[in-house]
Amino acid sequence: MFTRTVSEINIEFQPMGRRGQFPQGQSLLEYARRLGIGISSVCGGKGVCGKCKIQVLNHRVAAPRDLDNRTFSLAFLASGWRLACQYFPEEDCTVHVPVESMTTPQRTQLEGIDIPVRPVPLVKGYQVKLDPPSLSDTLGDVDRLIETLTDQHVPARSVDIGALKSIPGPVRSWGWQFEAFVRHGEVVAVGPPAGRHLGMAVDLGSTKLAAYLIDLRDGRTLAAKGLMNPQISYGEDIIARCNMAAASPEGAAKLQKLAAGAINELAGMMTGSIGATTENIHDAVVVGNTAMHHLYLGLPVRQLVTAPFIPAISRDLAVKARDIGVGLASGAYVHTLPNIAGFVGADHVAMLLAIGVSRLKGTVIALDIGTNTEISLVHNGEIFSVSCASGPAFEGGHIRDGMRAGTGAIERVKIAGADVKYETIDNTPPVGICGSGIIDTVAQLYVAGIIDSSGRITAVNSRVRDVEGRKAFILVPADETNGHSDIVFTQHDIRELQLGKAAIRAGIATLLAVNGIPESRIDEIIIAGAFGSYIDVASAVDLGMLPPIPLERFRQVGNAAGMGAKRALLSAAQRSEARNIARHAQYIELAGNTSFNEAFISAMQLGRYYLQNGKRKEID
Ligand code: FES
Repeated sequence: MFTRTVSEINIEFQPMGRRGQFPQGQSLLEYARRLGIGISSVCGGKGVCGKCKIQVLNHRVAAPRDLDNRTFSLAFLASGWRLACQYFPEEDCTVHVPVESMTTPQRTQLEGIDIPVRPVPLVKGYQVKLDPPSLSDTLGDVDRLIETLTDQHVPARSVDIGALKSIPGPVRSWGWQFEAFVRHGEVVAVGPPAGRHLGMAVDLGSTKLAAYLIDLRDGRTLAAKGLMNPQISYGEDIIARCNMAAASPEGAAKLQKLAAGAINELAGMMTGSIGATTENIHDAVVVGNTAMHHLYLGLPVRQLVTAPFIPAISRDLAVKARDIGVGLASGAYVHTLPNIAGFVGADHVAMLLAIGVSRLKGTVIALDIGTNTEISLVHNGEIFSVSCASGPAFEGGHIRDGMRAGTGAIERVKIAGADVKYETIDNTPPVGICGSGIIDTVAQLYVAGIIDSSGRITAVNSRVRDVEGRKAFILVPADETNGHSDIVFTQHDIRELQLGKAAIRAGIATLLAVNGIPESRIDEIIIAGAFGSYIDVASAVDLGMLPPIPLERFRQVGNAAGMGAKRALLSAAQRSEARNIARHAQYIELAGNTSFNEAFISAMQLGRYYLQNGKRKEID
């Protein structure tokens, strides 16, 4: 039961059944954040993205604001539909959050190419048996440990202060026989004989985190978990988050804490699933794009988001986990791989590491598609990299009925005349369209002749109607949606997709143009990442998002960044290889790049074609 405090109100969110009591004055979006409820907010609460739609279930609902009026029809407004970021309740309130406005449940890509690596971790365990002290042997516990390790030819020189605190009590209970975990001469943890020796690899994406718990003795993956990035509530666009961090130390601290909290949650879930504790994790590797890397380390980002886009640090870095609020073994470090430049960060380096970039032959394009798409060209042993702003359309952002890949999202579409076949995630009634469904939809509309190569809806089709004064294609009529309205694809949605796909294609074309290589000469295109795993490559080629090379030259490799992080966790040599990759990759800035701009304009066109000197060239 709610109990009232002066000037406080009770808010209840359904269907999750979360309740809280809050001081008045904040938006429903903010109250949801405080309760850990993920409501989509692409614009970070500015009222312009329309993704935070909720329904206020009270008998009396406050009058709509201008931004609500622009988003909802009169019927929806009358039913209590509002934007969560624009609704500031003045009394107790019950709120329905529809599936399409939730950031969970979401599908997380955990699998990827997992080539075994010989475990030679940085942190090694050494079994020790100390001589117990006595009145005639009063050497300190740690001095005794270091002497014993030295006698065993282990170059131990120091002990982490946290590990030191955990030594005197436990070693006595273990009868002076235990395992010491040493990293570069520093004892970072101690444990009972034959206890756990674990490591954690994390791919910290701007949308999702993927984490892996590894046995550092034999390299086995013991657990893997995914989680939505809780920073999303403060803006799905990383620039919005960087701006928040740059605006105030409190904003930066909040984002840092959210990232660290998510890593802690994953560590807790994974160790709990195998009957271990987070104290058993003696080393960690975290990779993310440059912005995520800076935000979770709490580094300044202002210089990163303004030209010439300089990171605070490019090289790899190891920090004590406790210094960034991550709870592992007392003296454990979190290692971050190096960044290349701009937004091409440690996750891309990890991806290149996982695909064995130094052994690739011929001309290879490797890309990880997302809101920012990082692309590398590997040619004659050289690496050239770009980052292009491909926008939120692939995550369902800026798309009228778009959503992330979660339950009920349409992920496959086939159009034949007025007949539309679709598949949804978890085979439930459709609630929206996720990235792979968006690509299929536009490709199918083009192949079916309903839109032309400029993306304009031209054909007469019984599913083409006027929606809110604009032409749109009715993908799913309301009666198939389990109580939702029609799921439609509008002319504006097509334009959004064109912008995103043109950026990716122009990025590829620019990398090739710099090296004088025609697109037809590409030997392989490697597509990494969660989104890239699920797209239909043929649809992406039909759209002109990817060059029309034979389909057998494409390879989808899953979460390669996560696999690269695992490799770096398991092997000092792999960390050194990552350093080499970052050092040798040549970064090409696309902002103001004429070649990119010309290719971008041509790549707005739909269809199968090559790009040459920024111009469309038909396939022979
Ligand atoms: Fe609410 Fe953007 S409209 S978060």
